[in-house]
Amino acid sequence: MAFSSFKFSFYLFLVFLLGIASAQLSTNFYSTSCPRAISTIKSAVNSAVAKEARMGASLLRLHFHDCFVQGCDASVLLDDTSGFTGEKTAFPNANSLRGFDVIDTIKSQVESLCPGVVSCSDIIAVAARDSVVALGGPSWPVQLGRRDSTTASLSSANSDLPGPGSDLSALITAFSNKGFTANEMVALSGSHTIGQARCTNFRTRIYNEANINSTYATSLQANCPNSGGDDNLAPLDTTTPKFFDNAYFKNLLSQKGLLHSDQQLFNGGSTDSQVTTYSNNLVSFKTDFANAMVKMSNLSPLTGTSGQIRTNCRKVN
Ligand code: HEM
Repeated sequence: MAFSSFKFSFYLFLVFLLGIASAQLSTNFYSTSCPRAISTIKSAVNSAVAKEARMGASLLRLHFHDCFVQGCDASVLLDDTSGFTGEKTAFPNANSLRGFDVIDTIKSQVESLCPGVVSCSDIIAVAARDSVVALGGPSWPVQLGRRDSTTASLSSANSDLPGPGSDLSALITAFSNKGFTANEMVALSGSHTIGQARCTNFRTRIYNEANINSTYATSLQANCPNSGGDDNLAPLDTTTPKFFDNAYFKNLLSQKGLLHSDQQLFNGGSTDSQVTTYSNNLVSFKTDFANAMVKMSNLSPLTGTSGQIRTNCRKVN
């Protein structure tokens, strides 16, 4: 009797383990169902980045904005429908998020190889990693098997993504809400070593703030007037915007952060020492960044029978 109840508990335990396993992602998820998926994504990213280096930055940001809003489920790609308003018009995304066409191109290539197999959310995750690698940054293992959402959330996009006017405490809170430490937040912010921002997001800083290098502020004012020119661009890393290195942190040490939120990481607060470390140690930045990206790309994935594999990344099937 005791033995059979032991057997029964053991059986339950096995079922439990199986449940965990099926709810988890794995790096070889497509190795039999679509063996050429990963190399197809890589070639498409490499050619997009060769055409325009900034596209690598845009694809990395797309992954961040996907994962921070109801998890990495490609909700960010959905167009508005009569049933819901998508995330594309949220403040952090509107007139700002890029790379949708590159994802569409990759999706159609992968669909012709293996119809209905590879999720849009996995494509974003792999494209983000390959983008960073293409621009000279670290690689990391991308866990696969995410499924795509059937809904999006405009309100979560507005509330969960931190804005460029955020102070350090707001940045720490926004990332802690998603399970990240302040150290991981600093490492992930190193993404701003690539890409561009619009004048509207740094105007207040370059005209009104004191903790900015004055020569740097003046040079930015030439292309970002007091009024107008909202969409004029400036590089987030003023020295090497097309290269994934630690120059972003070096710039912060000389008060050359472009966004208010950037300079908050080195402004006499608790994260100063980590910024200094990363500015001196490229390897530790790359290692911490890669680990934090693995964690970010595992935020609340849909697995098993939840969600779907969208045929068109912009629309629910
Ligand atoms: C720490 C809080 C963060 C804030 C407040 C923030 C804010 C911003 C803003 C305002 C822009 C410019 C958008 C525009 O002007 O159109 C931007 C660009 C960018 N962000 Fe962030 N971001 C943060 C964290 C991150 C993270 C965690 C990542 C990636 C893991 C990331 C990746 C990027 C990239 C690559 C760009 C350039 C995109 C391009 O050139 O298309 N950011 N960010």
